[in-house]
Amino acid sequence: MTRRVIARGYGGPEVLTVVEVDPVPPARGEVAIEVRAIGVNPIDYKRYSGAFGTDPDSLPMDLGAEAAGVIVEVGEDATGPDGPLSPGDEVIAYPVDGAYADRLVVGADSVVRKPPSLPWNEAAGLLVAGTTAVETLDVIQVGSGDLVLVHGAAGAVGSCVVQVACGRGATVIGTARPGHHDYVRSLGATPVSYGDGLADRVRVLAPDGVDAVIDTVGGEEAVDVSVASVRDPSRMVTTLAVPRAVDAGFLGVGGKNPASRGVRRRLRSVVVDLADRGDLRVRVARTYWLAEAGRAHTELAGPHPAGKFVLLP
Ligand SMILES: NC(=O)c1ccc[n+]([C@@H]2O[C@H](COP(=O)([O-])OP(=O)(O)OC[C@H]3O[C@@H](n4cnc5c(N)ncnc54)[C@H](OP(=O)(O)O)[C@@H]3O)[C@@H](O)[C@H]2O)c1
Repeated sequence: MTRRVIARGYGGPEVLTVVEVDPVPPARGEVAIEVRAIGVNPIDYKRYSGAFGTDPDSLPMDLGAEAAGVIVEVGEDATGPDGPLSPGDEVIAYPVDGAYADRLVVGADSVVRKPPSLPWNEAAGLLVAGTTAVETLDVIQVGSGDLVLVHGAAGAVGSCVVQVACGRGATVIGTARPGHHDYVRSLGATPVSYGDGLADRVRVLAPDGVDAVIDTVGGEEAVDVSVASVRDPSRMVTTLAVPRAVDAGFLGVGGKNPASRGVRRRLRSVVVDLADRGDLRVRVARTYWLAEAGRAHTELAGPHPAGKFVLLP
């Protein structure tokens, strides 16, 4: 039997349950993966929380967009973006629907090779945050010489944004709580505390304003400080298309933006290469057993240590 975590209904983590199902073989163009680690993302709990509306037809709901593991079975013509796939190949599966499982059967086009340099836990948490980060930077064309403000710089996405932006030669100011300032500094950014007075603190660091803004927070303060700080309002992008950000003219990535899907697939190899070269590091903050997914979600939704949360099958 194989195990997977599903949401039986809409609500809090109490709706999650582990179910056991018979393993299915991969069909043509598919591979079966023995999962070693699974990335946890805020979208996972937002989907069953009802934040995006409720649809009884989508229940029970499979959870999880990314995992890393070893291919154990291959269907006919299972060729991934990196070439033909074979049993024993170590891979990262993203984007997938239902990564919270100890065995996955997915289309070969959802699988990229895991470099040997990347430990399982880091590989599992790399691609949602990493591809989102690179997409945000590309959308507003962040490059050498830019002064950039990143909201949520210690977060999974924000920490990737900081590393990639610095790698491109940008100078980064990153908001974080004081306990995360050393971490943000270690990524290459100048940390600044969010909360009352943020606009003034940013002005001290950027008296002439910033060139670009990447928001991974979506709160009123992040939006308002961005508008007050950016020189060219067309260079603001957010990972959370909240009404205030949309009204302020932020560009958005992911979500219902159909262009993002193709972009993310294309960016997988870019992000894996960055990680393989050591230019993009994933810090794993906490690991949980698969059956503890609900606890992981509760803790991720509140103040938490900087880094990715990972589930182990
Ligand atoms: N559009 C997309 O495709 C896409 C993709 C991935 C993620 N997302 C969204 O992007 C957001 C971030 O995701 P993530 O995985 O990076 O989450 P995360 O790892 O939990 O990071 C969130 C960060 O937000 C910061 N934060 C919390 N409250 C704040 C406040 N009041 N002001 C400023 N910063 C605050 C935290 O900073 P401290 O820890 O320093 O307190 C934390 O590091 C989530 O809402 C997620 O759903 C969207």
